[in-house]
Amino acid sequence: MGKDVIIACDFSNRKEVMNFLSMFKEEKPYVKIGMELFYGEGPEIVRELKSMGHKIFLDLKLHDIPNTVKKAMKVLSNLNIDMCNLHAAGTVSMMEAALEGLTREDGTRPLLIAVTQLTSTDEERMRKDILIEKPLDEVVMHYAKCAKSAGLDGVVCSPLEAERVHEVCGKEFLTVTPGVRFADSDTGDQVRITTPAKAKEMGSDYIVVGRPITQAKDPVEAYRRCIREFLG
Ligand code: C5P
Repeated sequence: MGKDVIIACDFSNRKEVMNFLSMFKEEKPYVKIGMELFYGEGPEIVRELKSMGHKIFLDLKLHDIPNTVKKAMKVLSNLNIDMCNLHAAGTVSMMEAALEGLTREDGTRPLLIAVTQLTSTDEERMRKDILIEKPLDEVVMHYAKCAKSAGLDGVVCSPLEAERVHEVCGKEFLTVTPGVRFADSDTGDQVRITTPAKAKEMGSDYIVVGRPITQAKDPVEAYRRCIREFLG
């Protein structure tokens, strides 16, 4: 399974994303489309970016009853995306149903990755708001194990958790990790961060990088720097 850098295209409309991607003349980066762009532009934006030759991680984090998620996944799979995700909190049955929906008639399917606990949720909120008393790390690893037992390909996690996820779920289980910053750049609102080089060292399979590339003076050079540090 190839390691790669995924650019988080957190733009609000088609024009902005097209302007951004037009800067890349030599490479076709793997891109992440999130809720804002998808809800704003609809499935057409996925088809368009796919037809331009980009691999696509559709980050819609599904969470609903198994039957609904299964049917929604079938629709997403037909968009010919490469990776999508859901919340592990939806239970193992929901994740199994999602995989079923995602699998195309010819047996192929996009990669399916689970969100464990969002990085915006801390232990205190987990205890107070969702009545989960266990330590955060234990919850994250348990959700990762559930995702694996449901047949999923991996989890979204912090690069700092990647090593542990691999220990618990095996080397082949993918870790897709946001929270990446260059050693000399702004951290923005991200707290638990690492550099692309450190993410590589910790065994991350895909790094998801947004602002360090999209807001850079020279986004193509920033992307190439990520590739050099992460894959080099
Ligand atoms: O700009 P930045 O590099 O922080 O972007 C990271 C991307 O990864 C954003 O699209 C953000 O929503 C997403 N993400 C994250 N933390 C998670 C899950 C997703 O930062 N736990």
